Amino acid sequence: MQPRVRVKRLAAVGVRLIRVIDQRPSKTDRKGNAMARRMLIAGNWKMNGLAADGVALARDVAGGAAGLDGVDLLVCPPATLIAHVAAALEEVDVAVGGQDCHAEANGAHTGDISAEMLADAGARYVIVGHSERRADHGETDAMVRAKAQATHRAGLTAIVCIGETLAEREAGRTLAVLESQLRGSVPQGASAGTLVIAYEPVWAIGTGKTPTVPEVEAAHAHIRTVLGGLMTGADNVRILYGGSMKPANAAELLAIADVDGGLIGGASLKAADFLAIAKSATS
Ligand code: PGA
Repeated sequence: MQPRVRVKRLAAVGVRLIRVIDQRPSKTDRKGNAMARRMLIAGNWKMNGLAADGVALARDVAGGAAGLDGVDLLVCPPATLIAHVAAALEEVDVAVGGQDCHAEANGAHTGDISAEMLADAGARYVIVGHSERRADHGETDAMVRAKAQATHRAGLTAIVCIGETLAEREAGRTLAVLESQLRGSVPQGASAGTLVIAYEPVWAIGTGKTPTVPEVEAAHAHIRTVLGGLMTGADNVRILYGGSMKPANAAELLAIADVDGGLIGGASLKAADFLAIAKSATS
């Protein structure tokens, strides 16, 4: 091995070691939550960005991430950008995730991407069951559960999305819908280390509308209670709020009991906004 290559590899090992040391369980967030429920601020870039844009955005996020303590950061670019973004973030503690995966590890599934492939490209998380996938691709709870299982099989953490439509909210069915989606989508054997839940009211996504503080609080408390009946260690599972979270409302939403971070769409495409939201998770 060339000496320069060896030095680079050793440096990479060093960076990984620092990350491991950095993630000791003693870390807490500003709510005093220990590692398992440290705030997680996750950007869902959706179908946006070519390589140059994605790398530039990742670099801008990396630039501001260094000064943020007590919060875990994650960006989920389109699958085509995962390797580029992972390379751009190699030196900083910002994780990369996928936005969806196939339930199988490989096979005759033209156009699909497996969790193992996402892991190979540098992902550590995968969003599954986003309402846009449930609506655009007819994904059922059973399919979402299979995808979450695939994520675990590949050694990744699943971010399982659930949320009610406006009609369901207006019919007073919000908590029942969340419960049935959780029962149908959370895989067996999930643990706080491999599962994150994102509560995303469908009517709040990309609309600028958000539920009231008591509504978010009731939803998250119910999710925690239902999870308690489905798995052990439910108290340590992070429950993110998603749907029109932005710098102006992040502090209020993140202060709510059982809100352990955010899944951010539109505002994650501007590094300054994403970082401002992350900053409100630390203060
Ligand atoms: P939004 O999207 O922040 O643009 O509302 C959130 C999401 O869909 O994850």
